[in-house]
Amino acid sequence: MMSPVPAALVSCGTEDEKNLITVAWTGIINSQPPMTYISVRKSRFSHHIIEKTGEFVINLTTEDLARVTDCCGVKSGRDFDKFKETGLTAGSCEEVGCPLVEEAPVNLECVVKEIKEFPSHDMFIAEIVKVHVSENLFDEDGRIRLDGAGMLAYCHGEYFGLKKHPIGKFGFSVMKPKTRKRLEKQRREKAAAGRHRKTRRGDGRENRSPEKSRKKSKTER
Ligand SMILES: Cc1cc2nc3c(=O)[nH]c(=O)nc-3n(C[C@H](O)[C@H](O)[C@H](O)COP(=O)(O)O)c2cc1C
Repeated sequence: MMSPVPAALVSCGTEDEKNLITVAWTGIINSQPPMTYISVRKSRFSHHIIEKTGEFVINLTTEDLARVTDCCGVKSGRDFDKFKETGLTAGSCEEVGCPLVEEAPVNLECVVKEIKEFPSHDMFIAEIVKVHVSENLFDEDGRIRLDGAGMLAYCHGEYFGLKKHPIGKFGFSVMKPKTRKRLEKQRREKAAAGRHRKTRRGDGRENRSPEKSRKKSKTER
């Protein structure tokens, strides 16, 4: 009943034995060093791969990736080559040996530090050693803008897009009215500028090349 949660595509394995698993049970657990976890049922094909290699990549998903995300969450890599069948592109990581999903806007390269065993699932606690963010998600000031990326959320058995206008910024509930108005004005101006740019490009798909491999590495260990 924790909701909404992400529907992340986790890639694991090696070039020869690579796999994808959809995971909703994930999150950030520390900032310095950046740490995350995924909880994976012991019976999953991906479980033994991650246990063996001690590495995985969390690939964030968008509305455009909803279908393949669902597919990777219902088919097993034991009898299904998920990269081949979904058409997702396996890209190279910089710090770990497993592939990343090129089509995902954000990829977190992770190295397992600890495996916490629970009756049904094991929690792979990992350090995020590298972050890749698609270039088109950076605004003019170099800030990452995920609000326009159409991020995907999973809510009690259903997928939802987050493309709509955000309700408020972090801390908006305690912001002084004057500051709020100034920020709203800035946001409106930026949105208008963004709309203008998109119209000029004419593809409506937010400055994203089909190869989807132009990534900026944001964080290094
Ligand atoms: C939206 C969604 C979220 C999921 N979250 C998890 C999860 O957090 N942990 C888990 O072990 N399985 C989760 N699953 C199920 C696995 O993704 C699924 O069993 C998958 O087929 C396992 O693939 P594998 O056998 O190739 O590893 C989820 C499935 C979906 C559709």
